[in-house]
Amino acid sequence: MLPEVTAIRYVTPLREGGSVPGIVEADDLGTYVAKFIGAAQGRKALVAEVVCGELARRLELRVPELVRLDFDPVIALGEPDTEVQDLLKASGGLNLGMDFLPGSVGFDPLAFEVAADEAGRIIWFDALVNNVDRSWRNPNMLIWHRKLWLIDHGAALIWHHNWNGAQSSAARPYDATDHALARFVSAAEVAEAAAELAPRVTDALLREVTALIPDEWLLDEPGFDTPDAVRRAYTEVLSGRAATIQDRILLSAPPKKADAPPEWLRTWVEGKAAGSQQEGPR
Ligand SMILES: Nc1ncnc2c1ncn2[C@@H]1O[C@H](COP(=O)(O)OP(=O)(O)OP(=O)(O)O)[C@@H](O)[C@H]1O
Ligand SMILES: [Mg+2]
Repeated sequence: MLPEVTAIRYVTPLREGGSVPGIVEADDLGTYVAKFIGAAQGRKALVAEVVCGELARRLELRVPELVRLDFDPVIALGEPDTEVQDLLKASGGLNLGMDFLPGSVGFDPLAFEVAADEAGRIIWFDALVNNVDRSWRNPNMLIWHRKLWLIDHGAALIWHHNWNGAQSSAARPYDATDHALARFVSAAEVAEAAAELAPRVTDALLREVTALIPDEWLLDEPGFDTPDAVRRAYTEVLSGRAATIQDRILLSAPPKKADAPPEWLRTWVEGKAAGSQQEGPR
């Protein structure tokens, strides 16, 4: 089970996040970014945070510690924004906490160099979990103590929103052309990352990771009898994907078909080739 803490002070909303996470202090004296169960993104965003965050950690990618965060909206009655109040009131009980990295700054691909092997591993991992939310426009990575940390996996595992089509959706290519780290790698590093990481994504590892999803977030999933049945479905899709995704990672846009040369150029070139004295345009 993930460690469990109780929020004792609501500090501030993080308005730059679409789901308006909040900074809270907890009874273990830690400070956490709270991802709220009452947010529009729903409980599956929290499931994706747990599955992807804990899987990434086991593949030795840096992710801040995740905790089960017990939140009582009564501690936040002083929050003046009524929309934030509505969110907090809808989030009593179990939420997700992520260790707050004080003094971290958002990653900027033009200001921070990333080693090709690390970038390759992150791109392969994002392909595995179908993370479409790490583009250069919205990198969802932090620099902390001069190292790169991964955050915000709530939009990954897109196929868990429609389990009937999960296997076929998971078989689609992963477009990494807009990925924030695309400029640091070539296909060779991504292939090396795949060779290193794919064999580590075993069923045993996926069972260990999915066991960390709180039962509460898996109950009443249409088409499944028990939380464990949902966990098995995550394991199956991810395990299939780990074996094959490398072949479907798109790193650069296919070259555009060249436009046909203008008529004058074609005639001129043909004329030259035929040894004629025809002149080009002035
Ligand atoms: N662990 C952390 N430590 C420090 N700052 C953080 C941490 N997690 C998130 N933040 C800050 O809060 C912002 C919002 O967090 P996050 O991206 O997880 O929220 P979101 O609502 O899922 O966002 P999005 O709009 O990208 O979907 C981040 O861009 C970052 O500035
Ligand atoms: Mg974000």
